[in-house]
This record gives sequence, C-alpha cells and structure tokens, in this order.
Amino acid sequence: MPTVSPEPKPAMRAAAASMQQLLAGTSYVSYSYGYPHKTAYRALSPRRLQEVWNAEPRDALFLYVHIPFCSVRCGFCNLLATTGAEASLVRRYIDTLERQAVATREAVGRRTFVRAALGGGTPTFLQPAELRRVLDVMRNTMGADLAAIPTGVEVSPETTDGERLAVLQEFGVDRVSIGVQSFDQREAGAMGRPQRDADVHRALRLIRDHHFPTLNIDLIYGGADQTTASWLASIRAAIEYRPEELYLYPLYVRPLTGLGRRGQSWDEQRISLYRAGRDFLLEQGYQQVSMRMFRAPHAPTCTAPVYCCQQDGMVGLGAGARSYTRELHYSTRYAVGRAGVSAVIEDYVSQDAAALATVDYGFEMDDGERRRRFVIQSLLQAEGLSRAEYRSAFGPDALGDLPALQELQQGALATVTQDRVRLTPAGLERSDAIGPWLYSPRVGRLMEEFAWT
Ligand SMILES: C[S@@+](CC[C@H](N)C(=O)[O-])C[C@H]1O[C@@H](n2cnc3c(N)ncnc32)[C@H](O)[C@@H]1O
Ligand code: SF4
Repeated sequence: MPTVSPEPKPAMRAAAASMQQLLAGTSYVSYSYGYPHKTAYRALSPRRLQEVWNAEPRDALFLYVHIPFCSVRCGFCNLLATTGAEASLVRRYIDTLERQAVATREAVGRRTFVRAALGGGTPTFLQPAELRRVLDVMRNTMGADLAAIPTGVEVSPETTDGERLAVLQEFGVDRVSIGVQSFDQREAGAMGRPQRDADVHRALRLIRDHHFPTLNIDLIYGGADQTTASWLASIRAAIEYRPEELYLYPLYVRPLTGLGRRGQSWDEQRISLYRAGRDFLLEQGYQQVSMRMFRAPHAPTCTAPVYCCQQDGMVGLGAGARSYTRELHYSTRYAVGRAGVSAVIEDYVSQDAAALATVDYGFEMDDGERRRRFVIQSLLQAEGLSRAEYRSAFGPDALGDLPALQELQQGALATVTQDRVRLTPAGLERSDAIGPWLYSPRVGRLMEEFAWT
C-alpha cells in the first residue's frame, strides 16, 4: 500500500476565485458528479420523509441503491465502502434496505422510476441470493420496472462470476460497469488497487458472453509509474472488449484514503495522459460525452423516457445513498476512513422504521442553488448548457444569472452561441476546476469546513 502523506487535502482546497487563478491553478480540485457535493451536507432538524416528498414531481425518478461492501479497499477510493464485512452485517444491511424501501414507498406515494442503478462499493460482493433479494426490493418493493428502464450495476473483476451475472440478466439489467483501473496489475497495485490481470480478463469475457447491451469500463490515469505508453496500452486492452462506454478517471487522493499527494508535475502528468487517452479514443470513433465519459459508436441509443439529471428527483436507499428533491438533498452521514465508514453502516442498520422514515442530514436547496446545479451539471457535459432549457426552467437567461459563464468565454474556456454555452477542449479538460469555481460561496465554505472521519 502506498505511503500516507500529510500533504494538504485536495478535495478541500478552495476553488480559484478569479479567472486568472482558474487559468493558473490546478485542473484537479474535485469531481463535480453531483452538486452540491455531499461534504456540504449537514445535520438538519428532523422532518418526515412524507413531507419531504409531498409536493415533489414523481413521474421521472431515479432509483439508486448503495451496497457499501467490497472485497478489497483501494488506496485511492473515497466512496462509502468497507471490506471484510461479516455475513451477519450484510444480512442486517439487506434487511434494513428492505425496511427502508417499505417506509420510502409509503412516504413517496405514487411514483414512476425512469432509471435505476445498483452501485457501491461493489454490489457483486453480495452472494447471488443476496443480490437477487436486493434487485427484488428495487423491482417489487419500490416498483421500478428494471427490465423496461435503463438499469446499471457496478461490479469488480474478482467478484464477477456466471452466477451473479445470471441474476443481473434475470432482472433485465442492461448496463454492467466494471472497475478495471489498469490492465497492468503492477500499475493497479501501485495505485493502491490489489488486482490480478487474469481476474480482469476472465470477468470481461464473462460479461461479454452474457450479452449485456452496455459494458462500461472504468480506468484511472495519474498513477506514480504510469507512462503514456502504459496508459494507452490499458485503453487498447479495454477496447478489445468493445465497451459501449469508457470512463477515464484522473487519480485523486482524498483525505483518509491511504495515498499521498504529489505536486505540480502530477498535474502535468494527468493532463498529458488525459489528452493522450482522449485523442486515442476520438481516433477510434468514440464520442466524448464529458471529461471522463466516452461512448462508442456501437452503443445502443436510449429510447427510454429521459431522466434529466439537472432537475429530476432521485430516491436513494442504503448507507451513503443520496436522494434529491427540488427543495432538499439528503443522505446518511458520509465517511471515508475505516472507523467512520463502519460507524455510518452500523448507524444505518440500527435504525427502526420511524428513523428510516425521517430525514435529518442533507442540504436545503434554494432557487439560487437550483440554478447553479442546473448550470454545473449541464456545462460539464460536452454538449453544454442549453440556454432555452435554462430559460424554460428558471425564466431569465443563464448568462445574466451567472456572469461567471461570460468570464469562461473571455478566458477561452467556453464558447457562447445563441443556443448554448459549451466548454472548449481547454475548458473540458479543466472540468474539475471549473465545477468548483462555479460553486456558491456557501457550498464552498461548507465543503472546506467538513470534518472528515
Ligand atoms: C464503485 S467503483 C466501481 C466498481 C467496483 N467497486 C470496482 O472498483 O471495481 C467506482 C469507480 O470510481 C473510480 N474512483 C474511485 N475513487 C477514485 C479516485 N480517488 N480517483 C480516481 N478514480 C476513482 C474508480 O475508477 C472506480 O472504478
Ligand atoms: S474502487 Fe471499488 S472496489 Fe475499490 S474500494 Fe472503491 S468501491 Fe471498493
């Protein structure tokens, strides 16, 4: 395992204040996969789940279920996950999921799910019968028609086998996402990911043999000894399996995750590996969807009702799962260190029905935050922000509401047309600095002040 370093905590560094600072500073502040980040969540005065969902549109919801168990704990990972869970804890966890699903179903009332995901952690850490039970909770207790809507499940190489994949198939899962990180086990090991190449290839062959419509492969760049040649070798090995999607993640080192951080040259290494990977995938016909995501030309086109990640609601079940309504984002508490994660899971499985129907931790959204969220979640996609969609959601024009968008244009990080605000290639590769640059002062302050456990 790589050495722990007392270096500053990158996810907590303040975002650049001015355009000049944005251009001169690191491109790697933090990954804005949702706004606000969960380190901006805090204790709330308790309120009933039913009140939270009462006035919420519920005809295009996302169902997310989190399994916080893994067979290994990777040195870089900041997700809510733990290893070595006893069978009794896993059983209590699934029992709690089921009770939470019943409480949530009653509180949310009439609802339509248009998308579902089972993530973690590593859902395939579960025994096949446990996996079936969880998918059954999603389908039968929550009422998500998994076979009819886009449904994704995350797997890891060593936990993938025919029996588990058959369970996923039985429920109509159409997207399997596997974390590979590197096709070179030494390189993966140096990043803090213990893994055998043979397991990676066996898992990928099995997934392809089961004919899931979408295979996604996660790869990471920026490991200590990674070179352009070794990085491209991993991408080449990945596309041998004709994945419909590829996620290229820059390596991040978060507080309490076991890896130390290096300086400026690390930024340069990551940006140059990013460009090499992006150029190679574009040459291969992949389309760039965001800084991290690439889609193959043979990927199936989605005909399901559209889920709008900028605005539609999410129902999250399990420790660490987030839920979104227009007024409130909420979840259980968040932790990364071993003791903190165990405490969050223990708290979760100890809840009675009343506690499972109560919300007491999260972030209250106001109109300004909703507008920022819309902008951030649109702008960090390659297709950018639709000015018309913004106007129809909020009234005024996005450029008037958030003058920072014009600054991005002046800094050559975005282009502005009648219809859209779109990041330029120079902007897209700085997505992880531009996202935080657009955070509200309130969110920035809460993230800075978050006490990591
Ligand atoms: C839930 S895992 C994927 C499934 C499974 N647990 C696995 O690791 O194979 C989510 C993905 O996030 C990415 N990830 C997590 N922490 C990261 C970090 N600190 N830096 C870069 N990528 C990270 C990894 O690529 C990982 O595959
Ligand atoms: S990267 Fe995946 S397997 Fe590794 S600790 Fe995180 S969730 Fe678990």
